[in-house]
Amino acid sequence: MTKVTMSVNGTERSGEVEGRTLLSAFLRDTLGLTGTHVGCDTGQCGACTVHVDGKSVKSCNMFALEADGASVTTIEGMANDDGSLGVIQQAFQDHHGLQCGFCTPGMVMAAAALLKENPKPSEAEVRAWLSGNLCRCTGYHNIVKAILAASGQDVSKEFAA
Ligand code: FES
Ligand code: FES
Repeated sequence: MTKVTMSVNGTERSGEVEGRTLLSAFLRDTLGLTGTHVGCDTGQCGACTVHVDGKSVKSCNMFALEADGASVTTIEGMANDDGSLGVIQQAFQDHHGLQCGFCTPGMVMAAAALLKENPKPSEAEVRAWLSGNLCRCTGYHNIVKAILAASGQDVSKEFAA
């Protein structure tokens, strides 16, 4: 076992991991941050999307050891400091951008990465960006609406880490 330390949602967190421990497993099982979902464990569904050093990453595609020393943001870090929903989360609620909610953490994290890179994306750009995130409820139309509604707003909080 090897000790890893990383900043997670602005707080330094450590734990013991095996070489094969995935970042998704470390976040969920060691740190208890179960908002990061695991749908496939093979890099296809995007449910496990988090940000590592400001970039969108599928956390089942990365070993925890690779994130040693990194700054990680999970869905738990997307709320405002007072516990209210962040801009993108609020837009998902307002536009019914979720059904069962399983894909939602990954969708929100992917959306935040898009809006950081492209604050005013077109609908086509949103749809292209989400190609790596699957919604098994197939609620894509409202997910896209939510992201377009959040676009152009200040999402800097979403990238505080
Ligand atoms: S659980 Fe990581 S992409 Fe599906
Ligand atoms: S809301 Fe159910 S998987 Fe997307």
